Amino acid sequence: MNTLILVIFVVLIHLGTGVKIHKLDVPEIIHFGHPVILDCDFTLETNDQELVVKWFFNKTLVYQWIPGTKKRPQVSGILKDRLNLEYVASRDANSVHRALHILKALPDLSGDYTCSVSTMQSEDIETKTMVVLVLAKSLKLQRIRGEDGVIEVQCIAEGVFPMPQMTLSSLKRNITGPEVTTRRKGQLYEVSAIVTLRALEDPEEFCCKLHISEANYTTRKEAIFYPSDHFQISVIIDEY
Ligand SMILES: *[C@@H]1O[C@H](CO)[C@@H](O)[C@H](O)[C@H]1NC(C)=O
Ligand SMILES: *[C@@H]1O[C@H](CO)[C@@H](O)[C@H](O)[C@H]1NC(C)=O
Ligand SMILES: *[C@@H]1O[C@H](CO)[C@@H](O)[C@H](O)[C@H]1NC(C)=O
Repeated sequence: MNTLILVIFVVLIHLGTGVKIHKLDVPEIIHFGHPVILDCDFTLETNDQELVVKWFFNKTLVYQWIPGTKKRPQVSGILKDRLNLEYVASRDANSVHRALHILKALPDLSGDYTCSVSTMQSEDIETKTMVVLVLAKSLKLQRIRGEDGVIEVQCIAEGVFPMPQMTLSSLKRNITGPEVTTRRKGQLYEVSAIVTLRALEDPEEFCCKLHISEANYTTRKEAIFYPSDHFQISVIIDEY
């Protein structure tokens, strides 16, 4: 093994830099359902032979293309039947099929993408992470009970990915320990926060905040609840 590493090392010194990935183009965030191109721009030395381009998802081989042969790229695992194989990344014969053209980004495609370009003489490898973002289908802030001197205020978000954090606050009082529940529904998350409070004496403004740290995304729902009836005014605010 050590001898092999030494041989590779010596070969590299003799041949200069060899294969080099210049740009691994993988967006950090892609919105649910959109197509996306993951590109791996590389160059070769003139004497590099037997080029192989590979992509790994979470360290598992999902794509392999050998430009020297006339064969189409081979797709396996999570990307099977999810790529446009007609996509041409470059006119350079060694780079035509270097990119992944994903037809539809779904949450299960969130993870680490590694491009590996290798020849007989050398190899270059690079990894980037992509998150498929699914914004909440709905964000509801509601008062669910108003009797016996207490109220319950609940916030619910449905259909989110990746897992969000939810906080509940009031302009009038400190809300401590809302009960936050996160459930997985298929590939998505449903989050709810609920707190029991002393009944309202005056109109009171509540705010529910949903934060997805991977995407640096926050959305808020604000609502004013009134003591007597079920009248309420609410507003929703998105922030990136
Ligand atoms: C891929 O890796 C990411 C980050 O480690 C992980 O959250 C995700 O569940 C993995 N996806 C699959 C399908 O294994
Ligand atoms: C909320 O808590 C902070 C710090 O713990 C305190 O300074 C503030 O007065 C409290 N506000 C209310 C409305 O109780
Ligand atoms: C999140 O967005 C804000 C505002 O655009 C920016 O200042 C901050 O650096 C971002 N943070 C991350 C972790 O991307």
